[in-house]
Amino acid sequence: MALYSEKVMDHFTNPRNVGELENADGVGEVGNAKCGDIMKIYLKIDDNIITDVKFNTFGCGSAIASSSMATEMIKGKSIDEALELTNKAVVEALDGLPPHKIHCSVLAEEAVKAALKDYYDKNNIPYDKALFPDCDSCAHCADH
Ligand code: FES
Repeated sequence: MALYSEKVMDHFTNPRNVGELENADGVGEVGNAKCGDIMKIYLKIDDNIITDVKFNTFGCGSAIASSSMATEMIKGKSIDEALELTNKAVVEALDGLPPHKIHCSVLAEEAVKAALKDYYDKNNIPYDKALFPDCDSCAHCADH
């Protein structure tokens, strides 16, 4: 069996929503200290809806495929729906990732959340801090 699904290869070789958004309403940048990969997501938000989203990922193929898929999954969705995006949902949408590449999808979930948090912060919108666990206390980087 091939290591990567056709969907992973498709989103890696032909990633959707690559680039930057000028005057983005929210920008999230996250990195993984271990592999050194960095992901940045830009959101345009109108009336609680994510009207546009772009990403730049300096990282492995799985990270690029995960960010591409994540942007597709949140485009046109409400903030609340985007907050519910999990790395597991991204992996499922990609028809799976090898176990040692799951952390790449975690980066996508974290980048989306970081961009939404940035939007809340910029607009002084109150939110439940539990939605955005502090990076320092987050276990993701420690367990791979
Ligand atoms: Fe680290 Fe893919 S190897 S994000």
